[in-house]
Amino acid sequence: MSSESLTVTDNRTGKTYELPIEDGTVRGLDLRQIKVTEDEFGLMSYDPAFNNTASCRSSVTYIDGAAGILEHRGYSIEQLCERSTFLETAYLLIFGELPTAAQLDRWTFDITHHTFVHEDLKQFFQGFRYDAHPMGMLLAGVGALSTFYPDAKKIDDPEERYMAAVRLIAKVPTLAAFSYRHNMGLPYVYPDNDLNFAENFLSMMFKKTEDRHIPKQVLSKVLDVLFILHADHEQNCSTNAVRGVGSSGVDPYSAVAAGVAALYGPLHGGANEAVLRMLRRIESPQNVPDFLARVKEREEKLMGFGHRVYKNYDPRARIIQQHMDEVFEATEYNPLVEIARELEKHALDDEYFTSRKLYPNVDFYSGIIYEALEIPANMFTVLFTIPRTAGWMAQWMEMQEDPELKIARPRQIYTGERERDYVALDDRNGPEKITGPPARRPKRPRRGA
Ligand code: CMC
Repeated sequence: MSSESLTVTDNRTGKTYELPIEDGTVRGLDLRQIKVTEDEFGLMSYDPAFNNTASCRSSVTYIDGAAGILEHRGYSIEQLCERSTFLETAYLLIFGELPTAAQLDRWTFDITHHTFVHEDLKQFFQGFRYDAHPMGMLLAGVGALSTFYPDAKKIDDPEERYMAAVRLIAKVPTLAAFSYRHNMGLPYVYPDNDLNFAENFLSMMFKKTEDRHIPKQVLSKVLDVLFILHADHEQNCSTNAVRGVGSSGVDPYSAVAAGVAALYGPLHGGANEAVLRMLRRIESPQNVPDFLARVKEREEKLMGFGHRVYKNYDPRARIIQQHMDEVFEATEYNPLVEIARELEKHALDDEYFTSRKLYPNVDFYSGIIYEALEIPANMFTVLFTIPRTAGWMAQWMEMQEDPELKIARPRQIYTGERERDYVALDDRNGPEKITGPPARRPKRPRRGA
């Protein structure tokens, strides 16, 4: 018997099975051999929300949630934020190595020269209502990109994959800025190829009548750090969506659109918008104890706290904290920061939160910085999407090379009726008046993302 194995006894039959352990996992499919009778399906594992299931092998991002460590391709997030740029980090995520000077030049040139979107896409944006949520517009815009690049369907062609990565990383900021300008009723601003990635985005957001919009360097630098911080985060909800949808063989624009949709949710990318709304509702640092009491009563959720993987301080939140003062030196001070710091202080001193290992996550402070950059709250998730596009593409490209790639198709435990006889319309009983959808089981509080 191998020591790298798990011995399982099925108490229904008394039979014993030896399941190999590889990389700290047992294969779900190995359970299938465990049966009471030969003709039954075999044992499955049940893991809603994938709490304890590895869905792939990946060498892109490493997280040690207990220790609060985040590394991309082996480089710590702290070093990348201090020494790299977002575009260089995007290259690292996608190709696995830091680029040489020549590679970085080519990469930067390619991204910079694909920032324009087809004029028809501009018209497409014009069709949205004036108050459409920018994330909804971005989601549709990314999906629409697939119709402009039909060759991206050739997912086995490395050149097409490269072009899709370049185009997505280059064009998502343009679409993101268009969604903001549409909301504001302002004309769209074309990309400025003489600016760097973060500067160009801020220019497309905020340029008015001036010939060129060159943002303060401290602000574009901090935005670039925020982009690095959000570039990838292994198998989170949106990355899982990109991989799941991408496993069908669809083009990468459509797969990434699925990621944008997942990121839109308040438990994922929408959390920093929710943090700001929460801080505004709390109104002042004196109200923090009352608010936390309501959280403990489960009447409220402490947005920006807790994480499926980090059971320690999120290293990204720590890095954001380090940049807050320099941002406030260059912008107007945001009093919400006092409320946020008071919340953090009380929560980290409260057994309710510490026993559940609830610490600030990346979203707790990022919204406050975005607000200092004069970015409205409904754009926060859009700003998350810009860098995460690089992570999604890195994961999507890795998946294409995976020899174990198959269409993602989980199993279920069926809980419904079976083998009922069809009832004719006249013979059906039910309430006279329809007042709403059929009664369901009581709703349980939502958990997990
Ligand atoms: N406020 C209050 N209680 C919380 C919170 C919170 N933010 N997060 C978790 N808990 C409690 C939860 O009620 C549960 O308590 P109990 O065991 O007594 O029922 C316990 O902590 C464990 O929580 P969980 O729901 O099992 O944790 P999860 O891993 O399923 O959920 C999470 C992770 C991020 C969805 C959740 O912590 C959350 O909803 N946080 C607020 C939303 C947020 O800030 N999201 C951004 C995540 S970071 C950005 C990203 O990567 O997307």
